[in-house]
Amino acid sequence: MALIAYDKADAAAFEATRHLGDDALGAWREAITRYLDPQPGMRLLDLGCDTGSWSQAFRAWWPATDVLAVEPSAAMRERAVVPSVLAGDAADIPADDASIDAVWLSTVVHHIPDLPAAAREIRRVLKPGTPVLIRSAFPGRHEGITLCRFWPEAITALNDNYPTVATIEAAFATAGFTTVGLEPVAQISAPCLQEAATGLRREAHTLLQLISDDAYAKGAERLRAAARTATGPLIDVLDLLVLH
Ligand SMILES: C[S@@+](CC[C@H](N)C(=O)[O-])C[C@H]1O[C@@H](n2cnc3c(N)ncnc32)[C@H](O)[C@@H]1O
Repeated sequence: MALIAYDKADAAAFEATRHLGDDALGAWREAITRYLDPQPGMRLLDLGCDTGSWSQAFRAWWPATDVLAVEPSAAMRERAVVPSVLAGDAADIPADDASIDAVWLSTVVHHIPDLPAAAREIRRVLKPGTPVLIRSAFPGRHEGITLCRFWPEAITALNDNYPTVATIEAAFATAGFTTVGLEPVAQISAPCLQEAATGLRREAHTLLQLISDDAYAKGAERLRAAARTATGPLIDVLDLLVLH
């Protein structure tokens, strides 16, 4: 069971507001390629692909690779911006043993109910020595996350509900993985705070769904007030954790 429902309303909000622009994607492409050298014929698994924005980017960046998009929510699959999104989840991946060259888990890891089981399943489908790349917010590493600036309650929600880096490392260690990298990646989430405030959809953010309505309303007011005078792009910092 994911932390939030991922029903039709969430899927619509995600599709409308969570697809990153080229600048943000570029920062992640640079970070990913420090750990992965995509070659023709490689199979990349976008696990928990949602409406498929990362699969779309991977296919555009590395057209000779084979991107396998997997998503448990039927509502998300229905709205996918890429063809052939398969049903599956981290504990039941529709792929053969040792058939995958890299697994991409973007803002998914907090939804996985049994991390050791997921690690075993990811180990099964990955070829030996190939990476699992985890993009996420992690407890204790929230300083660069805009939502935590306007909604301090989101910090508590993060700390209470998301796995720490150490928890993930321990779970993946049971399946033979070790950490090869952990780095913050700064992305331009919006050209300006005004645009972020105007386009904000609570349903698109797990952390905002985990706080009270009152806390949400107060934070939204703080965001709108700040947006009246803010200048420059909105930058968020998430982490990339890579294990082999
Ligand atoms: C916050 S969205 C992120 C989607 C996308 N990866 C991105 O970065 O834009 C989380 C996604 O994880 C999926 N999910 C939830 N539980 C999962 C699980 N156990 N295994 C794989 N994906 C899961 C949800 O259905 C949802 O599409």
